[in-house]
Amino acid sequence: MKKIPVLVVLILPFIASCSQSESINKNINNRWYTQNQVDEGKKIFVNNCAECHGKSGEGITADWRKKQKDGSYPPPPLDNSAHAWHHPLKLLKLTVNVGGTQIGGKMPAFKDKLSNQQIESAVAYFQNFWNDDIYSRWKKRGGLK
Ligand code: HEC
Repeated sequence: MKKIPVLVVLILPFIASCSQSESINKNINNRWYTQNQVDEGKKIFVNNCAECHGKSGEGITADWRKKQKDGSYPPPPLDNSAHAWHHPLKLLKLTVNVGGTQIGGKMPAFKDKLSNQQIESAVAYFQNFWNDDIYSRWKKRGGLK
């Protein structure tokens, strides 16, 4: 009987450390990305995207729906409030890769500046500002296809 507590004492910290590292790398709330990607994405986003899309993807131009004199549109918010969530993941990543110039837009291309992994993390970062309702609607429309 005396052996049982010793075993428990040895095993418990092991179990605790396993579940801890799991929770760090686990996908957030059944989303496609992990907390690590969101953390990496934050740095990338703040350094490369925030000047146009706001630090939390909230946008910097209230009138982002209004065409400007040169025919282009201001940068839209990337959080719940605009329509980034109407686009599947592939298209979101493509937009960041190639930018908006081929559709007459102003967004620069990032394919020579950021790796695929970094672009994925930047997308994870702004998607993490989507609430669960918007995220599940995005998924239902085929967001992950
Ligand atoms: C110089 C300003 C600028 C920077 C920097 C910028 N964007 Fe954009 N972004 C835009 C504009 C403007 C648009 C609208 C399309 C266009 O005009 O090119 C846009 C569109 C987008 C869209 C499509 C949104 C939708 O609803 O269709 C995504 C996604 C996006 N940007 C992500 C990013 C990410 C991620 C970064 C950083 C890696 C970034 N952008 C950096 C200006 C910018």
